[in-house]
Amino acid sequence: MAEVNLLRRYPRAERKLARPRSLDPANREAALRFGAEYFDGSREQGYGGYRYDGRWMPIARDIVAHFGLRPGDRVLDVGCAKGFLVTDLMSVCPGLEVIGLDISDYALRHAEPAARGRLVLGTGDRLPFRDGTFAAVLCINVIHNFDRERCLTALREIERLAPGRGYVQVDTYRSEAEREIFLGWVLTAVTFLRPEEWRALFVEAGYTGDYYWTVLDPDSEWNDFNDPGTERRG
Ligand SMILES: C[S@@+](CC[C@H](N)C(=O)[O-])C[C@H]1O[C@@H](n2cnc3c(N)ncnc32)[C@H](O)[C@@H]1O
Repeated sequence: MAEVNLLRRYPRAERKLARPRSLDPANREAALRFGAEYFDGSREQGYGGYRYDGRWMPIARDIVAHFGLRPGDRVLDVGCAKGFLVTDLMSVCPGLEVIGLDISDYALRHAEPAARGRLVLGTGDRLPFRDGTFAAVLCINVIHNFDRERCLTALREIERLAPGRGYVQVDTYRSEAEREIFLGWVLTAVTFLRPEEWRALFVEAGYTGDYYWTVLDPDSEWNDFNDPGTERRG
């Protein structure tokens, strides 16, 4: 299990995070439906328009290199949304068998055309595949949407499908100040943990894959701003 930043080439966000803000419960409720409002509604309710722009391409290359993926290998993206990473993985490694899974029927119906037919409606804590099916299972900015018990189950599911070859990125904070910002910007998170608490959860779940963090800290070197709660530049 290692801390690996596979999203370092994700475009940096233009942040307006300097001060905490309070979330409107109605917007949070709308976001948690993971429907049209969340992906293509207003910025207050989610991404404010979730469209393909190729930003996952360099990340897909890094994922392929990190896991040593080759044509014919199977890869699963849990919480694939509209299949952008699925599309780019297939593009950078032709012949890779990539499958995406998401709970959002809306996202799958509005998926990137190249990913259609490869996306499965389902939930990350009950993955409909046999043990050891995948050469890698990715789960980027999804797990914190579960409560603690379901986080454990989802991590065990990833481990079951690809022992030691998972990649999990979760939202986190390292101080009270960051927590305040986190609470104001992260629309859908249910489990709020510090990095050391996440690591303890990984151990408790028996998860042995790799992981990294999304931290809403304007000054940090080690954050990635790929959560719909943050403004994007890319
Ligand atoms: C913050 S988005 C991340 C999307 C993509 N992985 C990325 O990093 O851009 C969270 C995604 O998790 C999906 N999701 C939420 N709950 C889920 C669940 N129980 N099982 C699978 N996907 C889920 C949402 O529909 C959404 O597509």
